Amino acid sequence: MIAPGDPPAPGDLLAIACSAACEAGEMLAERRPAGRPEVVAVKSSPTDVVTELDRTAEDLIRQRIWERRPGDAVLGEEEGEVAGPAGRPAAGPDRPDRPDGPDGPARVRWIVDPLDGTVNYLYGLADWAVSVAAEVNSEVVAGAVAVPRLGALFAATAGGGAWRDSCPAGGGQPVRLRCNTGVPLSRALVATGFGYEAEVRREQGRVVGALLPRVRDIRRGGSAAVDLCSVAAGTVDAYYERGVHLWDIAAGALIAREAGAEVTGLRGRSPADPVILAAAPGLRAELHDVLAELGADGPA
Ligand code: IPD
Repeated sequence: MIAPGDPPAPGDLLAIACSAACEAGEMLAERRPAGRPEVVAVKSSPTDVVTELDRTAEDLIRQRIWERRPGDAVLGEEEGEVAGPAGRPAAGPDRPDRPDGPDGPARVRWIVDPLDGTVNYLYGLADWAVSVAAEVNSEVVAGAVAVPRLGALFAATAGGGAWRDSCPAGGGQPVRLRCNTGVPLSRALVATGFGYEAEVRREQGRVVGALLPRVRDIRRGGSAAVDLCSVAAGTVDAYYERGVHLWDIAAGALIAREAGAEVTGLRGRSPADPVILAAAPGLRAELHDVLAELGADGPA
């Protein structure tokens, strides 16, 4: 019997993540104007843009999550972290009546990138995605990445494997994902991405320039979430990037891991602190050592 404080099953959270990601992806695909969507705001630099549709998609996802789980917090790229309408007061040392973790009710937080690959979306390119992950007591246990222009839905639960399906979820024949193994760095196709700030980009350019002669080739797809799913699907061998945010990678990192990749940071740090790298174990280790030697996490 499930007691009220028991953690929700990852499969139940995944079903919510998949349907919210698919619905938002469909809305974004349908409502994209034939020309170029209007940029309504910029973030870290003039090229780091937000369209009205990014915000609409995040609102829609939040609403869908709260229809099913009104007590959960949602961390979204556009609005930051928002408590659910039926959310309990924050836990913490000052609230001994509300302990988190094993002694308290499970804390569920959703991590949402309503539109990862905004620049691709703006230009009408295919690699943009909606990414929805669910964390229970700070551990990501379910993740969905919908890529409408590829007709793909990538999904995983912790310990349950990673799958490629199509939207609406369950409509197609899910295919189990396995990342490529046994590829040496010299023959690896490596995806990467660049931040929006000029100084960070200069450093990223230096690192990628030194890496390029040592690998098969480099790809810059334009969506970190899609890049991680590409590692999972074996359409690239590895991915690394400096400076991505939690919402860019939360779902994709779980999907890559469940497909057999290791997803880490540099020198024992967590992914995205400030570098994330993902690949099958041997290749990840080789890539790690080269990135560390190149100082990919150095000052920028
Ligand atoms: C960006 C994409 C891109 C990556 C950037 C991200 P956004 O996310 O994931 O591939 O290189 O670092 O910021 O801005 O399109 O949501």
